Amino acid sequence: MDQSHIRNFCIIAHIDHGKSTLADRLLVQTGTITEREMREQVLDDMDLEREKGVTIKASAVRMFYTAPGGQAYELNLIDTPGHVDFTYEVSRALQACEGAVLVVDAVQGVQAQTLANLYMAIDADLEIIPVVNKIDLPSADPDAVAEEIEKLVGLPAEEVIPVSAKTGLNTDAVLEAVVQRVPPPKGDPEAPLRALIFDSHYDSYKGVVAYVRVIDGEAPPNRRLMLMAEGIVVEPLEMGVFAPRMTPIDEPLRAGEVGYVATGLKDVKQVRVGDTLSLASRPAKRPLPGYQPAKPMVFAGIYPVESDDFMDLRDALDKLRLNDASLTYQPETSVALGFGFRVGFLGLFHMEIVQERLEREYSLNLIATAPSVAYRVLLTNGEEIEIDSPAELPEPNFVEEIREPWMEIQVWTPSDYIGPIMDLVTSRRGVFRKMEYLDEKRVQLTYELPLAELIVDFYDQLKSRTRGYASLDYRFLDYRAEELVKLDLLVNEEPVDALSIIVHRNFAYQKGDALTRKLKQVIPRQMFKVPIQASIGNRIIARQTVPALRKDVLAKCYGGDVTRKRKLLEKQKEGKKRMKMLGSVEIPQEAFMAVLKLNEGE
Ligand code: GTP
Repeated sequence: MDQSHIRNFCIIAHIDHGKSTLADRLLVQTGTITEREMREQVLDDMDLEREKGVTIKASAVRMFYTAPGGQAYELNLIDTPGHVDFTYEVSRALQACEGAVLVVDAVQGVQAQTLANLYMAIDADLEIIPVVNKIDLPSADPDAVAEEIEKLVGLPAEEVIPVSAKTGLNTDAVLEAVVQRVPPPKGDPEAPLRALIFDSHYDSYKGVVAYVRVIDGEAPPNRRLMLMAEGIVVEPLEMGVFAPRMTPIDEPLRAGEVGYVATGLKDVKQVRVGDTLSLASRPAKRPLPGYQPAKPMVFAGIYPVESDDFMDLRDALDKLRLNDASLTYQPETSVALGFGFRVGFLGLFHMEIVQERLEREYSLNLIATAPSVAYRVLLTNGEEIEIDSPAELPEPNFVEEIREPWMEIQVWTPSDYIGPIMDLVTSRRGVFRKMEYLDEKRVQLTYELPLAELIVDFYDQLKSRTRGYASLDYRFLDYRAEELVKLDLLVNEEPVDALSIIVHRNFAYQKGDALTRKLKQVIPRQMFKVPIQASIGNRIIARQTVPALRKDVLAKCYGGDVTRKRKLLEKQKEGKKRMKMLGSVEIPQEAFMAVLKLNEGE
């Protein structure tokens, strides 16, 4: 198809505002899928995504749309992940488009991620089509939300399209607006090939499959291609389009079009999102701008509960990485937990997904340590090292300075909750930067906050203190030197390396006290007393004791009911699975997560 009749666009939205539903609705309307297939949610291919109701990986789909005048158009819809952990992927997906449909929930209005993604879309020079969704809901207030969009985003309220993605009401207006308002691609069809890789996945037969948007030139089938970042040459096994599933084609992929190239490569790391694909025989002079690797921000130790499963865990991580290039890991040994891996994640949400997939798809039983951030440590000999585990921190007399990552966070909230949010942020070493009124009722608060504090249940606390009304967005700022110390925990007089954390000196006593109390609750009673202590260096700063076991667990089931007894025993067995023996004491998974739950009931 001629470039002037191609439109490439994406949908941006805050989580749950209806991006997937609208995408599916457009697919039904263009006859790309049937109503029945719509219910099976085409764009979210991964099981976990459907269960969690969130989009993790960007993907793409092609539709044909015939305008009322009879002109046919090729529309490529590129899906973007909505969560802040995946910002880099969002920004690459946006580069593949000329327009963005901005979906805002008619009940909830504009939220932090709506704006965060919108700013990225504006940076990428996309034409924005504002849409208010869920107008079928009785509590919907599309006019007020359109006003809000005008005020915050500067798009005229009368251009905002009110729709119901669920019922299909007025969604044809969205297709028409895409055709009318989104500019066609403007690449040079004669120039040497330049195609942007905006996503990829691993297929055991076809190797790494790169999702590409052709910017200039064309990609003929059966020609050798080059990945420009590393100069890797590949002989594609297959090329095709998303119609909506992967469909091979014999034609070239031309300037402006979106499709895939099955590279046959076995390592996703070689095919990086953001890289440029060109022809091996006639490479472009320069790659497309703006490539950068995604950088892990949060780290945790992951250990098999049964030491024998270590090899299986390694295999599982190797396989998982094939589909997730942002996953990093290296072997780690813990005195307490044995052999495992230090795994790097883009954020907490990413960590949760990875752990769940490892357990579910590879039937592994795992213990994860509390997440940590990466610290930069300046040593007394002038050397600077980066550590991503508290256990790696050198002895204090070798340490000149410890620097930790700081974030800028933005909170959107009804103004009633400013007080509780201020309290929360201050208790987490946050620094207030500014407050702007969005309208009479809502404000945007900007703070700076250490990442280490953000990953410790900050989001949950924010939600509970604002009854779920506040939304959050964050980005990395810089590394700052702080008064940080390592807090060690001893169980039954033995230090447990996997429980160590790095904390601010001013909060060390408070944390030590809270942590020992929490551990006392979660460590099961033994036949003997178990002291739990927190220390800084050799100094004990807090202590609790788990009293010795007295009663038989079955004693409270006054004989009689056998099923109940069995149930109780089964339950105990279940609970056992996620325990590690440390010397003579069993430590459950909850102990490692205790540090995340210190503020429960705050
Ligand atoms: P993420 O994938 O988490 O980013 O969410 P999303 O933005 O894709 O939202 P999704 O399409 O999954 O919709 C979220 C919820 O809103 C689902 O329960 C949908 O059924 C519902 N929903 C979407 N559009 C409409 C609508 O027009 N009307 C009503 N009543 N509900 C809708």
